[in-house]
Amino acid sequence: MNFNYLILTINGLECKSILNNEICKNILIFVSTISTAFYVYYLYYLILYLFKSIYKNMKNDVDYKNKILQLKQDKNAIIMAHYYTTGDIQDIADFVGDSLFLAQKAATTNADIIVICGVHFMGETAKILSPDKIVLVPDLSAGCSLADSCEASDFKKFIDDNSGHKVISYVNTTAAVKALTDVVVTSSNAVKIVESFPKEEKIIFGPDRNLGNYINSLIGRNMLLWNGACHVHEQFSFKKLISLKEIYPNAKVLVHPECKDSIVKLADCVGSTAALLKYAITSDAKEFLVATEAGILHEMKKQAPDKLFIPVPPDDSSSACNDCSYMKLNNLEKLYLCLKNNSPEIHVDSTIIDRAKLPIIRMLEISEKLGL
Ligand code: 13P
Ligand code: SF4
Repeated sequence: MNFNYLILTINGLECKSILNNEICKNILIFVSTISTAFYVYYLYYLILYLFKSIYKNMKNDVDYKNKILQLKQDKNAIIMAHYYTTGDIQDIADFVGDSLFLAQKAATTNADIIVICGVHFMGETAKILSPDKIVLVPDLSAGCSLADSCEASDFKKFIDDNSGHKVISYVNTTAAVKALTDVVVTSSNAVKIVESFPKEEKIIFGPDRNLGNYINSLIGRNMLLWNGACHVHEQFSFKKLISLKEIYPNAKVLVHPECKDSIVKLADCVGSTAALLKYAITSDAKEFLVATEAGILHEMKKQAPDKLFIPVPPDDSSSACNDCSYMKLNNLEKLYLCLKNNSPEIHVDSTIIDRAKLPIIRMLEISEKLGL
């Protein structure tokens, strides 16, 4: 007889004899009743705990929202949020928009305090445009990888090494880089502003090489490019976008120009966050593959609830969508605290303000003429 079979038979006989024994049977019933009761009790507390924490978070959010609205009124403050911030921040903001829109609003507001829920360079731009106002950001460490890729002293050397060029800088730069610039652009107006320069004009464009390459190939320019990029927009996966296009053959592809060329080539619409949103709302299409930071989906879903928006995933397989960790540093608690304490505040050196203001004002004037 096979040895394993023999062991099984002996075990089976033992189990049978145990189960035939009345005392053992009762013990088994007792043990299983106790363990079932334990599991039910455990499950009950787990569900209770989950509900309690959801309720607590919701209550906290409502409390923060009420306090923020009250402080805003008491202090004559205005809250501006970029499309990449979380939905709860966008919902409480006075203005939600792309970089150009936020700059335009910061230049014209009557508020005493401007709270910028976005990243540091957006706060600096607001401060440069409204130096007499208090400009607050909920988290001072909300930076930008693109702005970080262009250190002012290195950029100055680049400009000095290539004298005779006009300098066009993307708004995603520090105030010190803007101070070295002839005209600032955002993704909303970059193509049009570059186009407004004569074809033979020698131009340095920084810091985003992807946006620079896109403009060069779109309108046949040969701008000298700074080699910077955004870590979020460089991450979109070409392979995954192709797979999504196969699953959703009727979907339109929306792409921010900070993305790599391979992604831009697959786009039905290339543009700023505001331009992508506008396209999504006005298009007849019902499905969209969105290759920009996933926060924009909040406004897209809000404005077009009957349409389907699918975020294009990054190369990194650990997440389904692409978040800017800097933008996501903003939350309701920090927003409340910064309004309560008037801190963290954005400070920009007055000599930098004087120099950086000019190229930003130039951008706003050209944008106004263009109807942007
Ligand atoms: P927009 O100006 O298009 O909103 O872009 C800002 C930004 O930071 C993109 O990464
Ligand atoms: Fe900067 Fe990229 Fe974040 Fe935009 S998405 S703020 S470019 S790091």
